[in-house]
This record gives sequence, C-alpha cells and structure tokens, in this order.
Amino acid sequence: MTHTATEGADAEALRSRIAAELERTRARTALLTEVVDDADLMRQHSPLMSPLVWDLAHVGNQEELWLVRDVGGREPVRCDIDDLYDAFKQPRRDRPALPLLPPTEARAYLATVRDKVFDLLDRVAFDNRPLVADGFAFGMIVQHEQQHDETMLATHQLRSGPAVLQAPPPPEPTVRPAGEVLVPAGPFVMGTDTDPWALDNERPAHRVELPAYFIDAAPVTNGAYAEFIADGGYDDPRWWTEQGWRHRQEAELSAPLHWRRDGSGWAYRRFGHWSAVRDDEPVVHVCFHEAQAYATWAGKRLPTEAEWEKAARWDPATGRSRRYPWGDEEPTSAHANLGQRHLWPAPVGAYPAGASPLGVHQLIGDVWEWTSTSFRGHPGFVAFPYREYSEVFFGEDHQVLRGGSFGTDRAACRGTFRNWDYPIRRQIFSGFRCARDADLEQDHR
Ligand SMILES: [Fe+2]
Repeated sequence: MTHTATEGADAEALRSRIAAELERTRARTALLTEVVDDADLMRQHSPLMSPLVWDLAHVGNQEELWLVRDVGGREPVRCDIDDLYDAFKQPRRDRPALPLLPPTEARAYLATVRDKVFDLLDRVAFDNRPLVADGFAFGMIVQHEQQHDETMLATHQLRSGPAVLQAPPPPEPTVRPAGEVLVPAGPFVMGTDTDPWALDNERPAHRVELPAYFIDAAPVTNGAYAEFIADGGYDDPRWWTEQGWRHRQEAELSAPLHWRRDGSGWAYRRFGHWSAVRDDEPVVHVCFHEAQAYATWAGKRLPTEAEWEKAARWDPATGRSRRYPWGDEEPTSAHANLGQRHLWPAPVGAYPAGASPLGVHQLIGDVWEWTSTSFRGHPGFVAFPYREYSEVFFGEDHQVLRGGSFGTDRAACRGTFRNWDYPIRRQIFSGFRCARDADLEQDHR
C-alpha cells in the first residue's frame, strides 16, 4: 500500500475532521456511561458482557497505546493498567473481578489521554508512514470507541431495571420493497484499496465473479419470523444444521432473545420497555443458527458475504462498486438507521433513499445481517496495524455479519465494513435477509 502525505490546507481540514469525530464519539460514550450510577457501571449485567466501566477505561487505554505512545512517541500516561484492559488477556466473564479503575478515576484517565491526543493532533505531520497517512490511526481509534459504544448499547439492552435511554421512534415506511431482487451474473469489485479509514480486513479490492442470484429486498421481518415460529420451526430438526439443532436444544431456543409471549402474539423488551412486536420491523437478536434455520424453512438460504456486498455496492450502470448502496456520500438520517439515533430497527420501507441501484433496501443500518461466510482475509490480505485486529479471528469459528445496526455509528460502517461473531451470539443487534440461486432457464425466458 502506498500513501501520500497530506499537507497545508488539506492537513488542517483533516485535523478538524478528526477532532470533530473524536468529540462526537466521546459524547456518545459519555451518554452511555452517565445515564446509570456508579454501582451499575461496575456491575456485570451478563456474563457475555463487560461491566460498562471496563469498556470505558479500555477505550482510553487503546487510545493511549495507539495515539499517545505509538503515533506521538510520548511517555505512558499509566502503564500499570495495560494488562487489565487487554481484551485478549482478560475474558469478559472475568472482568468484574478485576481491580478496575472506579468510574471517577476512569473518567479522569480518559480526559488526560484525550488532552494529550489533542495536543499531538495539533503537531502531527500526516506524512506517508502507514499509521498516520490520511489520519488512519485516529480513524481506527474513533471506530474502536464507536464499536465499544455499540457493545455498551448491547449491555444496556441486557441490563434489568428501569429504562434509562431515550430516543424518538424510527421513521414510518413510505414504500413497500419488492420481495426479492435479481442480481445478474457477472463480476464486481469487493473490498477497497482507497477508503482511507477502511480496516485491514476490508482490503484489498479484488474482482469476484458470481452467478445470478436472488436476494431479499429487505431484511426478514418479525412478522415473517413469527410465522416460522408458529409453523413449529423451532421444533423441526429438518430446518437446522446438525450443529444448529444441537445448540437450539442445549440453549433451549424458542424465539428471538428479549421476546416473550403476549396473548396470541409476542412482546419484545427493548431497553427496559416491553412493547408489542411489530410485524414490519426487521427481526433482531437472532443467532446465525436461527437465521440459517429460517432460511431453509423458507426454501432459501443465507447470502454469502460476496452476494451481500454485490447487492449493496454494485452499480449496474457503471460496473463500479459504490462506498454505500446509495452512492459514495456519507450516510445521513435519510439514508439509514444508524448511530443510536433510534433504539430499534426501522420498519421495512422506511429508507427508500438508502436503497441500492438494484432496489435492495436497508442494507446499511437497522440490523447486522448474518451471512453464510466464515471470517477470512480477502485474497492478498495483509495484517495492519496488528494481527490482533482481524487475523487472529480468521477461521471457521466466526461468521461474517454485514451492514451495521441502529446502534452502529456511521464512522464504523461502510459498504465494505465487516463484522464477525460466533454463530450462537444473539445479544448483538443481529438479523438477516435471505437469498437463493437464480433459476437461469426461467429468468432468461
Ligand atoms: Fe476493544
């Protein structure tokens, strides 16, 4: 990868953009950690999650490691806590027992680190060193904090007690997306070489040839998913893989996480409030195995990751791949349900301005979408800036999810952005859409 230096007015513009992103992100972190009291911050709400105060200080510690020490070459703020906040050394279930910084101390630590970062941001030369070219390390730290903000949002969804988060409901639908969209056979460019803050696993751009396929024009809705439940989908091993069925039995799955029966229908607890499940919203809090079983029951399958990305980025008019389904411009509130602006997925048809050229809706935002692909490097992958960012997670254990959720910030979501998790996870904001092979003889008639 070759980089060019950013100088003069361009460097000043980059500096202001980085400063704005850092501050916008910190405001979200503050919101998520100030709406609950200190005891709540120190508590573990689920063995799957860290106490919120761990995420808080970990965000500051990563910022110190990468920006203050690596980019800035400065003395450590505190090196006594590096091990405590190392995600690889401390499994989540053990984190509440650690001698964590209490909330007041954690906040003071974050503020000290941030002061040093603003100081070095004023002086840093955006030369062609890979870590600073285009402000990459700053972008990586913004994305890292936003990712933890989404994780903290998922912790909020798991905590019991009175509701503390507020947001207006998402917009109402204005269109009815068609059932399925045909994506014609042919090549497209997957991944990117040019998006300056794209992470190592999104690179490099490479050509992928795909046969024709159909993909759902919208994510699978609660209404459709409830039909699968009503049809006995959870009790019929025909729809599940062997591994999925074993997990379904061991974990006693019978509906998405946070659902309960409500008369003849379902209710769904979101951030402390129970409300009736709405049929036209994308289903959320399902694991990969549930998604896979639904798809088989529906006579379809999950899309591969490449199929998802082609549906999201490929522009048939030009043959090029866009940054986002709607074009290259950054998401606005008209394009997608992102950034915790709302606290649940928007009904299908609420974001016509965000549709792809082929007419596929809500690929970005609302719910992370499970794909049938396990997490690997793109051909030509090079770990950067460290193997622990992506490479150590490559393999059969992790399934790829794409597109971001209502809790994903725009800084941590692009048409190329890749997320991964264990196939049993459903505390994340995960849903899916289905695909199927195109019957070429019929389609060509
Ligand atoms: Fe982290």
